[in-house]
Amino acid sequence: MATVTVPKEEKTAVVTSPESTQKTVTLRIARINPPESTETKFEEFKVPVQKWTTVLESILYVKQNLDHSIAVRYSCRQASCGSCGMKINGKPRLACYTKISELESNVITIEPMNNFPIIRDLAVNFEQLFSTHKKMKPFIINEESEVNSDTKEFIQTPQDLEKFLQFSYCIKCGLCNSACPTMATDTSFIGPQGLAQAYRYTADNRDKGKKDRLKIVDQSHGIWRCHFAGSCSNVCPKGVDPAMAIQLLRGYLLGFGK
Ligand code: SF4
Ligand code: FES
Repeated sequence: MATVTVPKEEKTAVVTSPESTQKTVTLRIARINPPESTETKFEEFKVPVQKWTTVLESILYVKQNLDHSIAVRYSCRQASCGSCGMKINGKPRLACYTKISELESNVITIEPMNNFPIIRDLAVNFEQLFSTHKKMKPFIINEESEVNSDTKEFIQTPQDLEKFLQFSYCIKCGLCNSACPTMATDTSFIGPQGLAQAYRYTADNRDKGKKDRLKIVDQSHGIWRCHFAGSCSNVCPKGVDPAMAIQLLRGYLLGFGK
């Protein structure tokens, strides 16, 4: 049994490891409880890890063994639901998709994502992201239905599909919005997630809603606020390139998009 004493204002954690030689790392977890207090305090916990242990698993270890009160959101544990975004050693990442070993550090600092209101600790409020996503009309707009059409289905070539396929992989995790410097200064900015989805449906050859969506994005807190920092694309865990989607969407507005 190893006893770990953390700084005075923080909790004392006693960690029992099945093997005394097992590797341990220190998790520094942000604790914040608005509106009672907007001050962030960090609490430290030593946790045992193996080479495949994810950040989410280590947080759940803390909740199960050391402090169950840490607020964290997760669901699928397989990079599919988009629930577990957080800032890990300074970078927005999915906790379930980030192995401790890949961080190459014995101290892992875990904070809530930037550019989102904090509910508590690591859990942030997604209301704005979801409502903006909805405003982009994230569905095929076409009066003809596949079911009623004479052809029974809309035909797409591989090239038609290629135009929007990567953008359809978005899981709405919000990491891109959290990394975006424009979102940090303009809380009304549509953001890379919403703009990438506006492009995804506009570029779909089954869709007839281009005019509507371009009107929605062509406004003062819209597409022109992006200054192409590209940080959104750097952090996306699903290989979506929102910065490129924004440029392609601008192409439609400037009259050279196809
Ligand atoms: S574009 Fe990528 S980072 Fe942004 S919400 Fe979608 S999956 Fe997450
Ligand atoms: S828990 Fe679903 S994406 Fe991480």
